[in-house]
Amino acid sequence: MNAESNAVKRASELLEQRFGAAPSMAVVLGSGLGGFLEQLDAAEQVDTDSVGLLQPRVAGHGARVWVGGCAGHTVAVAAGRVHLYEGYTAQEVVRTVRAFREWGVERLILTNAVGGVRDGFDPGTLVVVRDHLNLQGTSPLVGGGYPRTFVDVSAAYDPTLRRALLDAATAVGAPVREGVLAAMLGPSYETPAEVRMLGTMGADVVGMSTVPEVLAAAAMSMPCGVLSMVTNHGAGRSDDVLSHDDVTRMAATAGAAAASTLSTAIERLLEEGTRP
Ligand code: HPA
Repeated sequence: MNAESNAVKRASELLEQRFGAAPSMAVVLGSGLGGFLEQLDAAEQVDTDSVGLLQPRVAGHGARVWVGGCAGHTVAVAAGRVHLYEGYTAQEVVRTVRAFREWGVERLILTNAVGGVRDGFDPGTLVVVRDHLNLQGTSPLVGGGYPRTFVDVSAAYDPTLRRALLDAATAVGAPVREGVLAAMLGPSYETPAEVRMLGTMGADVVGMSTVPEVLAAAAMSMPCGVLSMVTNHGAGRSDDVLSHDDVTRMAATAGAAAASTLSTAIERLLEEGTRP
């Protein structure tokens, strides 16, 4: 047991003390998805640090865990994730996902904002991730995976969750495609040459988060799905200068469609009683 696995255990116990038994489904919200929280009924919330989880070091983001009703079903929601580029280790970045699993969460949906690498992945498009390229140079499984190290990740993006997200986006009228997510360390955006390289390597979109959480979930046999929102053309693909403010603004615009997609997908998944 290293210090991080103790931190995971402690966080899962604190979540149980604060909220009781775990809901079967959890969501991690990226920027722009705040609208989803407004759809939660009778939601209770805590600061992440009061349940042994981490706070972002980037100003302007406060992290909280919410538990509330989504279309008649209880879900746990982590809003405000921490990133490798903040200086956290890969293990720290995935503490929330691991603690959710230890608490008893069975399935996970992760969301994020991404840049579009290829034609057809334009701002405003939702992307259901089907595979990834981990180019962050690290993994949460380095240093002794939790609970295992050598993990088959060829089906890390669960087909049932992928289908539910695709169908839900179509049902709410949001433009949606499946795609491959490249994960970069950041925090600078890519160079135009890097974006061209990513396209050649098979990426459709690029982001700075999420892939560590997917790897941690796979190691714990927790089915997961990822809904990305394209907030900008990748560097060099338009004349725009990339700025965090513009990315955040676009995320808020596309975030409404993403929030409806999420709640529709969750409702269908929990109503059908499809098991992981
Ligand atoms: N690159 C990396 N991460 C991102 C981008 C991007 O263009 N847009 C939003 N997150």
